[in-house]
Amino acid sequence: MSTDPRTPDTAPSERLPITLPQLLERKRRGEPIVMVTAYDYPSAQVAEEAGVDTVLVGDSGAMTVLGYSSTVPVSVDELVMLASAVRRGLRTPFLVADLPFGSYEASDEHAIATAQRFVKEAGADAVKLEGGGAMVHRARAIVEAGIPVQGHVGLTPQTATALGGYKAQGRTAERAIDVANDALALQEAGCFSIVFEAVPAAVTELIMEHIRVPVIGIGAGNTTDGQVLVFHDLLGIYDGQHPRFAKRYANVKDDMIAGVRAYAREVRSGAFPGTEHTYSIDPSELERFRARLPEFGERLARFDW
Ligand code: KIV
Repeated sequence: MSTDPRTPDTAPSERLPITLPQLLERKRRGEPIVMVTAYDYPSAQVAEEAGVDTVLVGDSGAMTVLGYSSTVPVSVDELVMLASAVRRGLRTPFLVADLPFGSYEASDEHAIATAQRFVKEAGADAVKLEGGGAMVHRARAIVEAGIPVQGHVGLTPQTATALGGYKAQGRTAERAIDVANDALALQEAGCFSIVFEAVPAAVTELIMEHIRVPVIGIGAGNTTDGQVLVFHDLLGIYDGQHPRFAKRYANVKDDMIAGVRAYAREVRSGAFPGTEHTYSIDPSELERFRARLPEFGERLARFDW
């Protein structure tokens, strides 16, 4: 029986904010961690109501809500704005914000300054960055500056071109060793958690034996400590590229189109607005107003067309 302040059945009003020690405790107990992305106030409210544990303002928002063709062009200002809106819609999930491409790679100082913006301006609890290698130094620097960092290995979309495209990673022994080395280095750098994206399930399972921090998987099998999905993929709001791991639980886009179509139809036919959508005025007030209308007629006569 869980002693966490939150279980899937806890009433929304009784849920307490999720903390870092609780995420670690979840791993220790083998209780799966639920993470989802969000990019605005309403999607954050949905995540809150649904009782997820942690929310990621992913740079995937570059594609799902800002319409870019990849995550690369999104700026810090844009993601800080999205993260601030998400913060306003969340009370209890742990909030992680993605550091966008080009905002942390060049130096430790640059990485710390960007991470601080997400914490100070957007109210993020932690930041996420992609990759191993030199990025391990950036992760360590941010952690040492007092900001929790989530690592991200396997398919790292910001550098997908260098990886040969949006492909699963770790599919040969050498590449699997690369994924393992990156994950272990990020763990040693002090990351509180690591995302594994698009890694063969069997490879993930073997690496898991060596990881002591919570691993959140996306396309990495079911042996990780938790799962993350992109909000727009899981609800069927976005119909761009559809990766194998993006299980669809609803088709909200179809409902949105049907709703706006019905609205357009009713406006055109005059069925909307109905009396239930309009305001009334006391008849005596309306009569007093009608009596004043000639004044407007005189003004209109003076109006120079
Ligand atoms: O940007 C994002 O949504 C992500 C998840 C896929 C982990 O990084």
